[in-house]
Amino acid sequence: MTTQTNTENDAAASADSASTILEVKNLSTQFRTRAGLVKAVDDVSFSVKEREVLAIVGESGCGKSVTALSVMGLIPTPPGEIVGGEIMFGGKDLLQASDDEMQEIRGGQMGMIFQEPMTSLNPVMTIGKQVAEPLRIHLGLSKAAARVRAGELLSLVGLPDPLEKLDDYPHQMSGGQRQRVMIAMAMSCEPKLLIADEATTALDVTVQAQVLELLIRVAEEFGTALIIITHNLGIVARYAHRVNVMYAGKIRESGTAADVYKNPGHPYTAGLLSSVPSLMQSTSGKLQSIEGEIPDLTDLPSGCAFGPRCPYVQDRCRLEDPPLENVGDDHISACWESAQFRGTT
Ligand SMILES: Nc1ncnc2c1ncn2[C@@H]1O[C@H](COP(=O)(O)OP(=O)(O)O)[C@@H](O)[C@H]1O
Ligand SMILES: [Mg+2]
Repeated sequence: MTTQTNTENDAAASADSASTILEVKNLSTQFRTRAGLVKAVDDVSFSVKEREVLAIVGESGCGKSVTALSVMGLIPTPPGEIVGGEIMFGGKDLLQASDDEMQEIRGGQMGMIFQEPMTSLNPVMTIGKQVAEPLRIHLGLSKAAARVRAGELLSLVGLPDPLEKLDDYPHQMSGGQRQRVMIAMAMSCEPKLLIADEATTALDVTVQAQVLELLIRVAEEFGTALIIITHNLGIVARYAHRVNVMYAGKIRESGTAADVYKNPGHPYTAGLLSSVPSLMQSTSGKLQSIEGEIPDLTDLPSGCAFGPRCPYVQDRCRLEDPPLENVGDDHISACWESAQFRGTT
């Protein structure tokens, strides 16, 4: 028991002293559309430490993917444009990096996995060639060495008969297997940071948990920090160290996962928690969905964007957008009524 506590304390201490590998400062990304200017990401700041698992959660359309694509330098321009901020990675502002530099960083020090592996995998190229490709480009391995390493990676992500799988094509595999291949590819160059954007959403619930657990295990083994993006707050409860909750292009709450789950600082987070079958909730708890819909990002309501859907809304919320404020140790939330909502007044 004592040993366990010490180990946990040591882990907490080393996580604390770990250095920051990604720091996003005041990032704003917009899209010019026919309907108007979409402020997809609006003044977003957060950081990720070495080996940390950060979850970014929020309903569909809240700016999670645009945040990730901004970090990866993959915003389609036009219609998109990063209009402000800094993205510091490995001591460099990625927003100042050239296309060549970004290409080198992507797939080398930083990787990303998407929801639908069929669109990311090449249907006419064998799995072995695809996993070997980044090894040849970024690590300069020979064809033969890259194939050997590709087989090892497929084995590492738990694919049965990995050596035979090298000569298979993506369509010969199940969705869960393809997602494992994506993880193998993303991890092949042992990146410092991996972003998984709804990477398990398309899979069956049981396969989702397996793939997520695999992702966490491999990331730990390689010392890779993870950003897990999901609309399902329940699914990351057990895995994330920190959680950023996004709504209408902004971070509305951020804190340690334990704190955010136990003691949410924002009514939106509380709504998300009660609307997903959380692993931490008793099964008898009634599931509720948040009423209403996310606002039109070209025509945001005045004041707090969540106001029109919020059970705690007051006059002030309709006039002024609340800033992020401390609601606990290393825990911030943007809500005028946070104290009242949490029962701490
Ligand atoms: N290529 C694009 N063109 C125009 N609007 C976009 C584009 N990509 C994203 N958006 C808009 O940006 C907003 C945030 O989207 P996104 O980050 O994908 O949300 P999610 O949180 O579901 O990942 C949405 O309103 C979306 O319609
Ligand atoms: Mg998305």
